[in-house]
Amino acid sequence: MPSGQPIKSPRSREPRLPRPVAVAGTGSYIPARVLTNADLEKLVDTTDRWIVERTGIRERRIAAEDECTSHMAAAAARRALENAGLRADEVDLIIVATVTPDTLVPGTACRVQRLIGASNANAFDVSAACAGFLYAVEVGRQFVAGHSCANVLVIGADKLSSLMNWTDRNTCVLFGDGAGAVVLRSLDGSTRILATYMGSNGDLAEILQIPGGGCALPITAENVGQNLRTLQMNGRETFKYAVTAMIRSSLNALDQCGLKVSDIACVIPHQANIRIIEAISDRLDVPMEKFFINLTRVGNTSAASIAIALDEANRAGRIQRGDKILLVAFGGGLTYAASVIEW
Ligand code: ACO
Repeated sequence: MPSGQPIKSPRSREPRLPRPVAVAGTGSYIPARVLTNADLEKLVDTTDRWIVERTGIRERRIAAEDECTSHMAAAAARRALENAGLRADEVDLIIVATVTPDTLVPGTACRVQRLIGASNANAFDVSAACAGFLYAVEVGRQFVAGHSCANVLVIGADKLSSLMNWTDRNTCVLFGDGAGAVVLRSLDGSTRILATYMGSNGDLAEILQIPGGGCALPITAENVGQNLRTLQMNGRETFKYAVTAMIRSSLNALDQCGLKVSDIACVIPHQANIRIIEAISDRLDVPMEKFFINLTRVGNTSAASIAIALDEANRAGRIQRGDKILLVAFGGGLTYAASVIEW
């Protein structure tokens, strides 16, 4: 018998008002292997000082060779389910945001379904680079708000080490591997997602891309040594656009729910670069103390970035019941998004 439940169509019954959606649990996972800046000094022409001054990153985690995105995602998912007090077979829908799927077919969400035993779930992936987790949370929120699902597991997971050119100092010092997850449910009480703003700009696709490995530029015997299936980035352009897009997203999301920046207790930004976060802090006039930062330890983990930071902030007591928090992301595409949550 096929697993998974049909997603119920709201058209089959009387229209119902959208219901509030809460983050009922969080979880995360980072691999055991630490790659320090000193380790990178042995790989490329760089220094610990350059990396710390330009990015804030001191170390990152690298998954084992046989440790795939789905394994990290499943570990984070189990922790989020435990945190929410939910069994895997109670999950209706699994959404995995990733740009490093284990395989193109099947999607990583289906692999996670099998690994955690979520036998009643539907499962699919979302691809929006570092903004992917917030995109996926918004998709999941709509399924719960629209009464199609009761319990949605949203995971951000990436093994960007598998797409690195380890001879390119412009990129290989920035990224790490990991996964983070949330359980979305409709719950009574104050906790709920208040607003989400999403945007993208395909005109700037080339400033952050993996050009090869898809149908546009397949890897062939002739081009296999040309590093086409590795991340390529115009760092300076990415930096400029990241700051503008994250500020715009934050202000639009706050505007949607009638809040001011001063109402926000904690900002959880995409963990790409401390200087991007400092620029946002400055221009939004939010003190750096309100930003949760873990990039020093984990680097930029792409779709996992905000999900890991949210779980760490939650478990460290940095966010308390009733706090209004702002999540804001930016990634290849270009894509950007911000969400405001009342915790
Ligand atoms: N070590 C030493 N020198 C380096 C390194 C390194 N690791 N990397 C670059 N350099 C050199 C450059 O070659 C350049 O040398 P040159 O002047 O002789 O040409 C010099 O340092 C300055 O390079 P810039 O690119 O101008 O350095 P910048 O201050 O802009 O910092 C950085 C580079 C850290 C990449 C920055 O631009 C940045 O963080 N950009 C945003 C990146 C980002 O957020 N990406 C993720 C987006 S999310 C996603 O979807 C994946």
